Amino acid sequence: MTDNTEINLNIHHQPTCLRDHIAFSLVKFMRFFADTFFRKRYGHRAVILETVAAVPGMVGGMLKHLKCLRRIEDDEGWIRELLDEAENERMHLMTFIKIAQPNFLERCLIIFAQIAIFTCYLTLYIFTPKTAHRVVGYLEEEAVISYTHYLNEVERGATPNVDAPAIAKEYWNLSEDAKLADLIRVVRADECKHRDVNHRFANQL
Ligand SMILES: [Fe+2]
Ligand SMILES: [Fe+2]
Repeated sequence: MTDNTEINLNIHHQPTCLRDHIAFSLVKFMRFFADTFFRKRYGHRAVILETVAAVPGMVGGMLKHLKCLRRIEDDEGWIRELLDEAENERMHLMTFIKIAQPNFLERCLIIFAQIAIFTCYLTLYIFTPKTAHRVVGYLEEEAVISYTHYLNEVERGATPNVDAPAIAKEYWNLSEDAKLADLIRVVRADECKHRDVNHRFANQL
């Protein structure tokens, strides 16, 4: 969680090796499906994608935890950072569920997506954690773009700028009269932080 919304929205890690290109292409491929499925239903998009976004941090944190136990070595703060990310993404979910409720088809998609993403990310992280963090870095770049689109829709009046849910006001310390636009700004700032953390982890590995 961060309350600094004045952060760099335009950071992009230029792919420099084959691994980066594969990660970037994979994320762009997934983005195509998300754009096709959700179109401009940003509230629904946020709910469904946050159920997925909360998976990698928990998987990465768990695997790093197990590795540190096996090697009897310090984690240098990685586990806390990754688990914090997972919890932060879950709070995004618990917030956006107050804005939009998934329909039956979307509920089915959530279950299928969790099985697929958990299995794929676990496998990827076991074999190449560097690529796994790069994929998440690129996913977070896309999340920043998507929340910027959502914010633009709210600011131009295409989506009602409703009151921010109480859970969001408490979690992000928003003012009592905070609106959806304020909420999207702080969530987008969180995604920027996840983007930077995951690209940094990928660089360090
Ligand atoms: Fe998120
Ligand atoms: Fe994120």
